[in-house]
Amino acid sequence: MFVVVVLVGALSLCSAYPNGAPKEACVTMMPGHKYANLTTVHPMTTASPYQIMVASNQYSPGATLKVQIVGPQFEGFLLQARHNGNTGPVGSFSNPPTNTKAVTCTSGSDSMTHANPNAKQNITLTWTAPTDARADVMFIATVAQVKNVFWLNNKSPMVTLAQGHQKEGNHV
Ligand SMILES: *[C@@H]1O[C@H](CO)[C@@H](O)[C@H](O)[C@H]1NC(C)=O
Ligand SMILES: *[C@@H]1O[C@H](CO)[C@@H](O)[C@H](O)[C@H]1NC(C)=O
Repeated sequence: MFVVVVLVGALSLCSAYPNGAPKEACVTMMPGHKYANLTTVHPMTTASPYQIMVASNQYSPGATLKVQIVGPQFEGFLLQARHNGNTGPVGSFSNPPTNTKAVTCTSGSDSMTHANPNAKQNITLTWTAPTDARADVMFIATVAQVKNVFWLNNKSPMVTLAQGHQKEGNHV
């Protein structure tokens, strides 16, 4: 009986996350995949082939922005908007493209991930800034080309908050 339980556990660890990044990945953005021998799959250390492009280099509170993951076909991803140096997601996503879905890391639809392992390419995500936005944001993503081949920390250029909205003395 014990052996059966262990085998089932090992199988679920090896099966990757075909239906989206697990909640445990919210902060580190590490997929947490394991090889069959249970050692952790590490991120690629070569230059990432993926770029995170944002339609504008500036935003206003409540505004909606298009964000694109540009590069070769990929299977999995986790993408959030964050303030520089923070690990918490900011704002919310809507209109998920085919084979993707919005998920909750902290609140609402604050993160985007894959809905299945189908090939994706150059997908465009729709992000809406909080109405009380108070600082610049960047988009940060983990992109898995295939299971076990992934790049962490794919970052967009900084998107600055339009002048007049920055709150002084606010540590973000
Ligand atoms: C575990 O498996 C991976 C993939 O086959 C291999 O690269 C790694 O060296 C293995 N680690 C150990 C400790 O056996
Ligand atoms: C994805 O974008 C790249 C770079 O702009 C382009 O070369 C490629 O043709 C695009 N592929 C698709 C399927 O849109």
